[in-house]
Amino acid sequence: MIVLGIETSCDETGVALYCTTRGLLAQALHSQVAMHEHYGGVVPELASRDHVRRILPLTQQVLDEAGANRADIDAIAYTEGPGLAGALLVGTSVANALAMALNVPAIGIHHLEGHLLSPLLADDPPPFPFVALLVSGGHTQLMQVDGVGRYRLLGDTLDDAAGEAFDKSAKLLGLGYPGGPAIARLAQSGRPGRVRLPRPMLHSNDLDFSFSGLKTAVLTTVKRGLADEAARADLACELQAAIVDVLVAKSLAALEATGLTRLVIAGGVSANLRLREQLAQARAASGIDVYFPAPALCTDNGAMIAFAGALRLAAASAAPAVPDAFSVRPRWALDALPAIDG
Ligand code: KG4
Ligand code: ZN
Repeated sequence: MIVLGIETSCDETGVALYCTTRGLLAQALHSQVAMHEHYGGVVPELASRDHVRRILPLTQQVLDEAGANRADIDAIAYTEGPGLAGALLVGTSVANALAMALNVPAIGIHHLEGHLLSPLLADDPPPFPFVALLVSGGHTQLMQVDGVGRYRLLGDTLDDAAGEAFDKSAKLLGLGYPGGPAIARLAQSGRPGRVRLPRPMLHSNDLDFSFSGLKTAVLTTVKRGLADEAARADLACELQAAIVDVLVAKSLAALEATGLTRLVIAGGVSANLRLREQLAQARAASGIDVYFPAPALCTDNGAMIAFAGALRLAAASAAPAVPDAFSVRPRWALDALPAIDG
């Protein structure tokens, strides 16, 4: 079965073709970062319009790359939610219109399920069960993943997501969007320990996070005045260290609390090199397994949606229907998803 996957929940148009016997056949991605950078963050209306522009050329591109044509598509998976309503509507309406035209089923996928299952697309996939640290611009969650649709939320952020803390602090420092890579770059020349920021909820004895206080602490430091570029780099270095310290400590605590030994990281912040280094050190020190999927699988992409769609379609008890209507779910609880046996 060949599944076309379409992702348009935020500021990336992702399209991919996944084959249940041959694996990922092709994928294409257009990031809108350059467009939103100008405004210091994602502008929802511009995001929707850009998805409209990109989605069909990208679909043609993956078909060409895979040496396939539309008639080879057996099903279409698309991100139904959560995300920006207008952006979701673009992928959802194209997916359903194509499915109707090709007379194939369409299946709406939960964006976070896509992230949680994406490590299984890697060359060295983790077996179930595992703990997933999902760290993106919108989410900071620790999840126990026992199988498809078997997700247990272990911890969540009470306010800002980790990516948001990077992005908002970067703005305060006059750096561009997205803030994570900009802070990471500046942090390289920073001197550790020159400034001190809090490690929020490090000792809270639960698996929740809170990052909004860090942004306030950065604001206070900036307002007090940063003498020069070196002082800015010191602050970036400390901010990155503070966020990473909390993410690593809570991930290890989640492994301990669940008795599991496998940790998977996903989401845009998992591209952060300091996070990867610190988790690699923890792996060496404590004998846990840490899976670092390729950055292209960590950030938003069409492959994870095609893959999750293929798994759900294969497990469906009734033959999936060709759609005659559709909707989006800008808010969608992950635990509302049905589990798949096996
Ligand atoms: O998963 P993602 O691409 O999009 C969603 O939010 O769904 O994540 C984007 C987030 C942004 O907040 C960005 O600043 C952050 O990931 N990010 C990073 C790095 N690369 C991207 N944060 C820290 N270090 C990085 N190298
Ligand atoms: Zn995402």
